[in-house]
Amino acid sequence: MSGFESNLVTIGTKEPEIKSVLPKQISNIFSDYYNSIKTEEPDSYAKVWEISAWVRDFRSQSEHAFISLTDGSTSQILQVFCEKANLPNFDTLDNLRGASVRVKGLVKKSPAKGQDIEMVCESIEPIGVVMDKNSIILAKTVQLETLRGHQHLRSRFRSFNYIYKIRSQLLKHIHEFFHAQGFYNLDPNIITTSDCEGAGEVFTITSLDYNQVQTNQKNAINLGVLQMDEKNESINDVVDKNLSKNIYADDFFGKQAFLTVSSQLQLEALCAGLSRVYTLNPSFRAEKSKTKRHLGCFTHLEWEIAFIDINQLMDFSELLVKTVIGKTLKSCEYEYSELNKFISKGIIDKLNNVVSEPFERISYDKAIELIEQHKSAILKKFSKEITIKDIPVWGDDLGSYCERYIGEEIYHKPVFIYNYPKDLKSFYMKQNDDEKSVQAVDLVLPQLGELIGSSIREDSYEKLVKRMDEKSMDKSVLEFYLDLRRCGTFPHGGAGLGFDRLVNFCSLMDGNIRDVVPFPVSYQECNY
Ligand code: 4AD
Ligand code: MG
Repeated sequence: MSGFESNLVTIGTKEPEIKSVLPKQISNIFSDYYNSIKTEEPDSYAKVWEISAWVRDFRSQSEHAFISLTDGSTSQILQVFCEKANLPNFDTLDNLRGASVRVKGLVKKSPAKGQDIEMVCESIEPIGVVMDKNSIILAKTVQLETLRGHQHLRSRFRSFNYIYKIRSQLLKHIHEFFHAQGFYNLDPNIITTSDCEGAGEVFTITSLDYNQVQTNQKNAINLGVLQMDEKNESINDVVDKNLSKNIYADDFFGKQAFLTVSSQLQLEALCAGLSRVYTLNPSFRAEKSKTKRHLGCFTHLEWEIAFIDINQLMDFSELLVKTVIGKTLKSCEYEYSELNKFISKGIIDKLNNVVSEPFERISYDKAIELIEQHKSAILKKFSKEITIKDIPVWGDDLGSYCERYIGEEIYHKPVFIYNYPKDLKSFYMKQNDDEKSVQAVDLVLPQLGELIGSSIREDSYEKLVKRMDEKSMDKSVLEFYLDLRRCGTFPHGGAGLGFDRLVNFCSLMDGNIRDVVPFPVSYQECNY
């Protein structure tokens, strides 16, 4: 026991238990049955349960019917056996397809194959029925793509039960992993005055109504409050000139503010004292891109670690990815066995391969060499997507197809690519002694492309200022960031992982990011 612990004073009583105060769910029935058969014979299980759930499926014969119930608490379905002789409303049951219902009955071991238990119905009452009999909710099988037009109904479909459970379990294992490694979970402001990545893909956030601002200015001109400088100037010219000057001075913050593209800079400030911090903040990027990998708003897992070097940064990312995927494979065993049969054939092997094999680590220079050697094969594989003009030479961005080729066809596993040309990357990355490259590391996954963007940060005040000047950056909004280098600077590094891309990789084969995000928002797509 450490000295600190031995001095602890006991505060409060013993740790509170988490009690259940909510209605019973299907998962409670299954766990009660599985618990009971640890000590009792399965045939002896007989308990009356009453639950509310949705009817997923309905099959009837003249004297009896089978209803499949689901409530999302488990991916397992509860079969309800209904007999005409016992149910006064038997003839109306067909109307309950897709409805929410309250059901009561005796649960026992099922004689049918493929299900452990079933409920023998004593009563079943509708709560809410499906009003439109052509509703997609009543379709037996629907493509993921078709459901993109009905995102609010997706949670009712089996495939989305699996995907959303995997998403939720990945989050749980991520939080557990970071806490086990001594991190603080802190979420910096998502409204910011700086464009961290410097790529200019920012959304301005304003409380101003642009049309109103224009009208006010026109009124001011008409009243003579605002002067027109030149004789031939139109009112619209004056308004445009004024608006481009200082529209944000009257705005909520008195200056232009954005939705963050990354929480990194603020995380660095927190790291300079707490040593290890992470966030799952959303990031926002105004990229006019409609690919399977890009969103306008995505869940961004970012971490920042003090006193590490580039190899430790890669070690940590590798351990994180392997641990959360390995744990999710276990905790979603049932969901994976189902996905592997129909929607994502091969997913279990793909993920097991990531967990068991060491990741490859190559420099950017080596990546360029490999791309040059394999360029004919790359162009053949992606003949619809790229041409010879897209094959990078030293200094160019590698491009997602060339990155994918390296992971998919050369190494057949995740690959870290490190030491990128400095002009390709952001101002904050640590400069190497060769003065050409920076300590940036991207993690590229087969079929997905980039999952993680990371780097060791420039900790020298002088080098950072020089780099910002070279890039003609406005230092005034980043005084706090420079201050971190003036006040006990320290070697550190961190990363950003596109969480939605991870969910895509972990639930689908060559999938679309829109199918793993509850309500995706991207270029020309914001429907809820
Ligand atoms: O590589 P990026 O731009 O790195 C940063 O933002 C760093 N500041 C992170 C850090 O060091 N704290 O973004 C990190 C990751 C990418 O690798 C990608 O997985 C994901 O974020 N990402 C996106 N995901 C979905 N839609 C988009 N438009 C994305 N842009 C980046
Ligand atoms: Mg990147």
